[in-house]
Amino acid sequence: MKNNELKKIVAKEAVTHIKDGMTIGLGTGSTMRYVLEFLGDQVKKGLDISGIPTSESTAELAKKFNIPLTSFKNVKKLDIAIDGADEVDAHFNLIKGGGGALLREKLIANAAKSFIVVIDKNKLVEQLGAFLLPVEIIPFGWEVTSQKIMDLGGVSKLRQLENQPYITDNGNYILDCDFGLIGNPPSLEKSLNSITGVVESGLFINMANKVLVSDDSNVQTLNNILIKEHSL
Ligand code: A5P
Repeated sequence: MKNNELKKIVAKEAVTHIKDGMTIGLGTGSTMRYVLEFLGDQVKKGLDISGIPTSESTAELAKKFNIPLTSFKNVKKLDIAIDGADEVDAHFNLIKGGGGALLREKLIANAAKSFIVVIDKNKLVEQLGAFLLPVEIIPFGWEVTSQKIMDLGGVSKLRQLENQPYITDNGNYILDCDFGLIGNPPSLEKSLNSITGVVESGLFINMANKVLVSDDSNVQTLNNILIKEHSL
């Protein structure tokens, strides 16, 4: 099955978790694009939900598919957040941020009772780290922040777009960091987040309640029994 087909079937499955009256965190990326499209179809059929997008690009797509949007001015918690990931390990740790939206994605996942991750089988890994770890940093003194990250043993590269630094929806930069295979993701996350200048890392440690994984024949649901629904 082609990659896009794998994304479509897992997206379709994710939408079955969305019920009338829910407020939903809407993730970012190409898998989420299908989720938004399928969710738009359900809204057309009368499903009554509202969403908070994790990026400006998702906000645009949600509008295109007529998904009602709200904001944290109106709601303090979300029933569910659905998002893609770049890598997922057996301990429900994730690398996210390939699409540059990691900060809002983490904030929204933290504000949700249940966080559902949608991936295809190619993103399941034994150890995180083959995918470069995105780290959002403030632009001022980025060279210093980058050096501090290298002092932790990584090689970091400023993300570029058309020969300019890539700017996140929050006005920040992203460093894509190579730590090799990451032996201890929780410890690396702590170390990164303690560096002045780092806004947030793309390591999501044991935050996902469920991971939906598509392979050639079906969608498998991995339930994280180590965390309950987040109490808010
Ligand atoms: C966006 O910043 C990322 O965290 C995405 O969730 C992640 O990159 C997955 O995207 P795809 O579904 O496009 O692979």
